[in-house]
Amino acid sequence: MKALLANTAKAMATLTIRNLRDDLKKQIQVRAARNGRSMEEEIRLILAGAGDLPAAPIPPDRATPRQNMPVAAPETPKPSPHNAAQHRILLIIGGGIAAYKSLDLIRRLKERGASVRVVMTDAAQEFVTPLAAGALSGGHVYTDLFDTVAEFDIGHIRLARETDLIVVAPATADLMAKMANGHGDDLASTILLATTAPVLIAPAMNPQMWSHPATQRNLARLRGDGIQTIGPNDGEMAESGEAGTGRMAEPLEIAQAALALLSPATPQLLKGKTLLITAGPTHEPIDPVRYIANRSSGKQGYAIARAAAAAGANVTLVSGPVDLSDPAGVNVVRVESAREMLAAVEQALPADVAIFAAAVADWRVASTGGQKIKKGASGTPELSLVENPDILSTVAHRTKARPSLVIGFAAETEKVIEHAKAKLAKKKCDWILANDVSEESGVMGGDRNTIHLVTKAGVEDWPEQSKNDVAHTLIARIAKEIT
Ligand code: CTP
Repeated sequence: MKALLANTAKAMATLTIRNLRDDLKKQIQVRAARNGRSMEEEIRLILAGAGDLPAAPIPPDRATPRQNMPVAAPETPKPSPHNAAQHRILLIIGGGIAAYKSLDLIRRLKERGASVRVVMTDAAQEFVTPLAAGALSGGHVYTDLFDTVAEFDIGHIRLARETDLIVVAPATADLMAKMANGHGDDLASTILLATTAPVLIAPAMNPQMWSHPATQRNLARLRGDGIQTIGPNDGEMAESGEAGTGRMAEPLEIAQAALALLSPATPQLLKGKTLLITAGPTHEPIDPVRYIANRSSGKQGYAIARAAAAAGANVTLVSGPVDLSDPAGVNVVRVESAREMLAAVEQALPADVAIFAAAVADWRVASTGGQKIKKGASGTPELSLVENPDILSTVAHRTKARPSLVIGFAAETEKVIEHAKAKLAKKKCDWILANDVSEESGVMGGDRNTIHLVTKAGVEDWPEQSKNDVAHTLIARIAKEIT
């Protein structure tokens, strides 16, 4: 009976709007905007106040004024949990075991000041309940395209439009396939078709499903459509005994990527420019199970790739083995050895700027057998090493398709500037970012860095900064140089 009355109130509200004079319609529009309600809700409350009908319940996320509505100045300011700069995120939870992490994602997004509205697919509800998602988001959870009450109240088109960003987490192989092919047979896929907001997906699936050509084809198509991706990461899967690439990115990583997409647009200093960046260590095989490596975390190169993409550049990141997620909007090519890295770099040319942040192994084992080296009668094996190609130097010496700015790093443990100057001359690059990587500096694997920019014109000393800030300083300096 209650539901019937509520529906009748909604229907009355719509009929009433249609019949109103234009000036009254305008007044109600202003009043509704001021109160952060839809016109239907406002009329419903007016009717209820007049004693005609009971007010239909307003879903909790509608009960407070929403931001970004055209609000006329209120006579008396009302306290509001929202702030004007609050980002509206629509989180679509797909049906995968990683759905449980999406509950934490709601919390992470809200901690960062976003308002979160949640849509769940049927399959998602097999893993987590709308009740749990609603308790965390503080609002109604939308599940059904054909739910007349929800559809009447807000509707899939408004869900698609009244948002600054859509995050799909977990994005299952099926949801990605639907998105890539333009299906619209449930609430989630219909919203994704109807939206004009940016979309960030966090794929999560079994490694076999992830590497399947059909999924990779769908991924390429989605990227071509401008969909941003975060992850998947490498590691153990929730299903026991499974490991590989397919784990959903961690909630914190997804929240950071979402907020980065929403934060006030970074000046597009490198719009239209192509950047090639190397990052991370290389692994040089000794035998099929052992390798030579170094302590590089890849953080500095990844931060540069992120900053360059945020500045509008078209970025290819050639990365050695690291434990970091692909930065959103960056074309990442993963390699293992120095020779693979060189091949990937040459493949990615031409570029306007090339930045070599990788800690490439200087040597590799001369001959690696096909079998694991066994302990035995022949005693301790002797490894014979040969020098790896110098990727920075190879690119800087090119006569054809040489990037107009070739930038290297110099990782030094002593005489930092002196060695950096020598490298600049020997490798024929344009700039060297010299840093102290001695154990005391904490640079290797840490989050901070002190850079001395060595160019043919002299040395610029940058203050100690986070690796992120180094990345932004470098991007701004590059933009000054080439634009
Ligand atoms: N580099 C490269 N290929 C290599 C070695 C280094 O592209 N085989 C690049 C690095 O990415 C970095 C720069 O060269 O931009 C300097 O690297 P660094 O390790 O400081 O110097 P090396 O040339 O390896 O010399 P050394 O180890 O003797 O200091």
